[in-house]
Amino acid sequence: MSLSRRKLANDLSFSTLAWGAWRLRNSPDINSDNDILRLVETALDLGITTIDHADIYGNYGCEELFGNALAKASHLRQKMEIVTKCDIALACEGKPENRINHYNTSKKHILASVESSLRNLRTDHIDALLLHRPDPLMIADEVADAFNQLKRDGKVRYFGVSNFTPSQFNLLQSRLEAPMITNQVECSVLELAPVFDGTFDLMQQNRISPMIWSPLGGARLFRDKDDAVAAHLRPVLEDMRVKYDAPGIGEIAIAWLLALPCQPIPVLGTMKPERLKDATTACSIRLDRQDWFTILVAAQGHPVP
Ligand SMILES: NC(=O)c1ccc[n+]([C@@H]2O[C@H](COP(=O)([O-])OP(=O)(O)OC[C@H]3O[C@@H](n4cnc5c(N)ncnc54)[C@H](OP(=O)(O)O)[C@@H]3O)[C@@H](O)[C@H]2O)c1
Repeated sequence: MSLSRRKLANDLSFSTLAWGAWRLRNSPDINSDNDILRLVETALDLGITTIDHADIYGNYGCEELFGNALAKASHLRQKMEIVTKCDIALACEGKPENRINHYNTSKKHILASVESSLRNLRTDHIDALLLHRPDPLMIADEVADAFNQLKRDGKVRYFGVSNFTPSQFNLLQSRLEAPMITNQVECSVLELAPVFDGTFDLMQQNRISPMIWSPLGGARLFRDKDDAVAAHLRPVLEDMRVKYDAPGIGEIAIAWLLALPCQPIPVLGTMKPERLKDATTACSIRLDRQDWFTILVAAQGHPVP
């Protein structure tokens, strides 16, 4: 069964589940171009066609790793949508100009970052460029200017943001010619903020699908023995796993996100092809309303008022 898709613009849709490259450089499962290609080909075969990057992932190394692998199977590029991000500037090896971690939404930085992403990813265009973090020094008109130039030059098709509050989103949108296509935020049964702070309300109001990072709490859901909320949630999710015949509790956690009316796009972080396959089963799980609330109550630690 092919994965459903979310329409983000007239000529842009993303797969309902995306895959993210953040952990590409630190995973014991990834040791060669072939490992990357096996993962990407599995994702594409499953209908997971949206690939999430950022310039800084792996200390500015993940885009290049991915691009080098892609260069060996360049026919795959047209089968995927590439998302990448810019504006975080890391003080790390190879970046002596960054004396401190900071954000940079200047036109100069955005244009230079895109040039570097295109080079590293070995592609001639990016499907969606996101500002990675809200920058308190952001001049919205200057960002708009950069976005217009990138669009005009055919280097970036669409734009969005990540980790923006509703007011930050509205500020930037007010200066842009085209609607932004997403706000990528953290959400999971372990991180409920955007469900209640207006972030997802704004997305539903504007019919924009948010992308969701760390949909499994970045593995805390499975591994963290000291996380009291995760420990409390596990048996509840396990009951649901049995009831809905899911491969694991992770699929229930993803189905819980997919039930949100803002039509989110969870970005999976696994580096294991078999876990990508399991995750797609979450798309056919329809949690009963009261089961959805049972998980919410376990996550919050108190009943709804
Ligand atoms: N915009 C932002 O600020 C931002 C921030 C962070 C991340 N992101 C994006 O979001 C993507 C996903 O984030 P994430 O990696 O934290 O997502 P995640 O899917 O919540 O966590 C992935 C981690 O969970 C582990 N895992 C998955 N299924 C498991 C299972 N059944 N049992 C045990 N461990 C399991 C994975 O290990 P295995 O590899 O071993 O499966 C991996 O270490 C990133 O790749 C990146 O693209 C964006």
